[in-house]
Formats: sequence, C-alpha cells, structure tokens
Amino acid sequence: MEKKIVIACDHAGNEVKDALMTHFEKAGYTVTDFGCDGTCSVNYPDYAHYVCEALQKKEAPLGILVCGTGIGMSMAANKHKGIRAALCENEFSAEMTRRHNDANVICMGARVISVEKAIALADIFVNTEYEGGRHDARVAMLNALDDAKC
Ligand code: RB5
Repeated sequence: MEKKIVIACDHAGNEVKDALMTHFEKAGYTVTDFGCDGTCSVNYPDYAHYVCEALQKKEAPLGILVCGTGIGMSMAANKHKGIRAALCENEFSAEMTRRHNDANVICMGARVISVEKAIALADIFVNTEYEGGRHDARVAMLNALDDAKC
C-alpha cells in the first residue's frame, strides 16, 4: 500500500497525534496533518471531516483520527461516503478491522490508551492487508448503506 497517511485530532488527541506523526515520518511515510495544532478546545467533527474528505479525494489510502475517547471521531467519520472508520483500543481489533472490514480510518482515544499503545495499534492497522474473498460482499453491503434511505 502507498506509504501515505492523513491524520487529525482534536485538543484531547494532540499529544498522541504528534507522536504518531513522528513515528510514521521516521518510518518513511508521507503524513498529511489536518490539525488541530494545540490543546485549545476545538470540535472533533471538523477534523474528522478534513481527513475523510482527503481520503475521498484519494490523497492517501488510510487515515488516523484521535480524540479523547475516539468515539466522536468514529461517529463523525462514518457519516462520510466511502469511509469505514473503526474505533480500536486493542491490537486484535486493529488487525481484524483491516483484514475483515477493509477499514480505511483508525480512530483512537487519547484518554483511553497510552501513546505507546496508539503507535502500536496504528502500526498494525497500516501494515495489515484486507483479506477480500468472503468479506467482499459484506464490505459492499456496508458501502451500499452510504446511499440507503433508512
Ligand atoms: C473533548 O472533550 C471530547 O469530548 C472529545 O475529545 C471526544 O472524546 C469525543 O468523542
């Protein structure tokens, strides 16, 4: 997969986002940072939108979003067409959401997991391939919900 990542956070996730950027830049990734840039209070839906819009424009294959719990970011991201965002708090989820759900965004909670854990989960996420096969029909069903009027 192309070594490009788009990333954003809110005020609660800033420290984790900075650590993730340093880690992935050292690992040879081009990391596009959509903010925020400090700890002043901001609104996570704005930052989820910046990352999702960049993914929709195919500026990168994968995105990372960090807020306090990861929940708000995942809710906001999953309202975007073509986005399959997964809130991950452990290694198994980070791996399986790539293998089975073809997730294209990992969301993490800076008030839930440590900086080290966030780096470990993001590493697994970007280095795990989607398995395809029997999962294709289910992922297609997820994508069809983008257009469902329910
Ligand atoms: C900010 O205080 C907090 O609500 C936000 O980071 C996030 O946890 C929302 O889901």
